[in-house]
Amino acid sequence: RSPVFSHLNATVLGLATVRSFGAECLLGAEFDRHQDLHSAAWYLFISCSRAFGYFLDSISLTGIFQWGMRQSAEMENQMTSVERVIEYTKLPNEPALRSSPDKKPPANWPPEGFIHFDDLSLKYTPDGNYVLHKLQLEVLPQEKIGIVGRTGAGKSSIIQALFRLAYLEGTISIDGIDVSTIGLHDLREKISIIPQLLRALQNVELQSEDEGTERQLVCLARAIVHNDRILVLDEATANVDAQTDALIQTAIRVHFEHLERLSIGNILQILVLDAGRLMEYDHPHILLQNKKGYFRRMVGETGTTMARGLHKLAAQNCSK
Ligand SMILES: Nc1ncnc2c1ncn2[C@@H]1O[C@H](COP(=O)(O)OP(=O)(O)OP(=O)(O)O)[C@@H](O)[C@H]1O
Ligand SMILES: [Mg+2]
Repeated sequence: RSPVFSHLNATVLGLATVRSFGAECLLGAEFDRHQDLHSAAWYLFISCSRAFGYFLDSISLTGIFQWGMRQSAEMENQMTSVERVIEYTKLPNEPALRSSPDKKPPANWPPEGFIHFDDLSLKYTPDGNYVLHKLQLEVLPQEKIGIVGRTGAGKSSIIQALFRLAYLEGTISIDGIDVSTIGLHDLREKISIIPQLLRALQNVELQSEDEGTERQLVCLARAIVHNDRILVLDEATANVDAQTDALIQTAIRVHFEHLERLSIGNILQILVLDAGRLMEYDHPHILLQNKKGYFRRMVGETGTTMARGLHKLAAQNCSK
């Protein structure tokens, strides 16, 4: 049954995409295939249990005995679920959530917010490919950096690394403390994030989009209350309406003036990523001077007018 349900669910969620690609027939055929498989299995189940019933009737074992047999078969089925749950209890544990007493960072950590990535590589599964390759960089206290790169370049993965949400090699230290030595909660409590929204939300009806916006506003409110030294924005204003966008931008400007930001607008440093490798890392104006530069090429691809505007903006910001 579950393939039928998940197929239907995915189809309904992606209805706009399905229609725009004219893929109704394809999806219809896929659905029929799942449905056929389900019907076949269900039919077999019913036939077998009826046939078994007749067999028991024919040897005059009826009533409670037949019921007992059915129940034992049912129990065998249900035990599959138990097996699945038990499988989860055997998964390897996450590292400790709290630091051991001798490693506990001070309550005001991080006092400055100096981040140092040292030969940092990241992968999402123990035997998977590296998504980030030996990143070597420093983010100074109060510095704002913007990460650019094509889709899949590893922008969000840098953030995953900061929160230790994947398999890391190399070290990340914040104000001199290697984050791999402290508890996960001790680390994650100290960094505020306003995450990238699920892309799927873009396609779904307004209600979900509102929920997305709401989630970002909650994250922002939390960040303001916590007043952390490090604030991370991952396309924070990508899928919200203009009014909310303005609200978020203003709130960030007002409440995080003293903070370092990986953020939009008024950016001091640009980090250019390509396929998980650090390509360039400098002030946008300086990067734009490099005729063969990666960043310059990306800006050029936005079109003449836009590129001219961006060049001017970078030059203005540089002279400030
Ligand atoms: N949870 C995951 N498990 C396995 N691979 C992943 C996971 N998340 C991302 N990846 C892979 O890691 C690479 C980098 O993805 P990432 O999300 O960091 O890119 P991005 O630069 O943030 O892209 P976008 O601009 O689309 O947000 C991609 O190849 C992606 O397929
Ligand atoms: Mg991303």
